[in-house]
Amino acid sequence: MSRQARPSDKKELQKREAIGIIRASRFVRKYAHSRKEINVETIKKIHKEIFNDAWHEIAGEYRKEDLRISDSKHLPPHFSKVPNLMSDVDSELQKKLGKLGIADGILHDGDQSVEKMLKTIESVVTVAAWVHHKITYIHPFREGNGRTARLTANLVLERFGLMGISVKVEKENKNRYRKALSQIDAAGDYEPLKDLIYEGLEERFDGVAVKYYNIRDDNKK
Ligand SMILES: Nc1ncnc2c1ncn2[C@@H]1O[C@H](COP(=O)(O)OP(=O)(O)OP(=O)(O)O)[C@@H](O)[C@H]1O
Ligand SMILES: [Mg+2]
Repeated sequence: MSRQARPSDKKELQKREAIGIIRASRFVRKYAHSRKEINVETIKKIHKEIFNDAWHEIAGEYRKEDLRISDSKHLPPHFSKVPNLMSDVDSELQKKLGKLGIADGILHDGDQSVEKMLKTIESVVTVAAWVHHKITYIHPFREGNGRTARLTANLVLERFGLMGISVKVEKENKNRYRKALSQIDAAGDYEPLKDLIYEGLEERFDGVAVKYYNIRDDNKK
């Protein structure tokens, strides 16, 4: 791929970012179905796929400046802390994914009991929500942290037998999504973000496993 400067024309930039999302989604899909380790390098690769054409300079690179998140009280950590924080994410992620190893088998093997499947789905969604929030909280990249976080969460969902989803982040859902993230910042409460992920899964799976068996209410409190 040729080296690209960031286009100054807004329309051109939007086009390239849109293509980047398609490229990154394709990467995530392929990667999910491989046996390759999911780690912080994978997160950087997802970011690289998004921005390679739109803003090459920042693609797959941690930020070198401090920034604010618009409409948010959360101030991302100083840029000098990002590499260490991400390496902590790496170790925690390995532990969490290691524990999910078994989920892989359960979700791909249709002969398991409903209860076991639902429990497994819950644990996969929990890790997806965790990594989603970690990325948005640390905000490791100059731009595209939300997109990278959502695609990384999808990678976890898809690797462990579920499907990538679209978290509704626009228009009337924007506030709900942002609130879900800030509730984790403030109180470590993952439930609102997990609810958004479940809603995305419901859409993909037609509501059956998630809605009908009411997994949320059983395990929430
Ligand atoms: N309170 C918060 N705590 C942590 N993360 C937050 C908070 N509010 C918003 N965010 C995240 O920050 C993202 C915006 O950051 P950034 O602009 O780097 O990402 P983006 O991918 O370009 O944005 P978008 O999600 O709008 O496409 C939001 O999408 C959301 O994921
Ligand atoms: Mg942005």
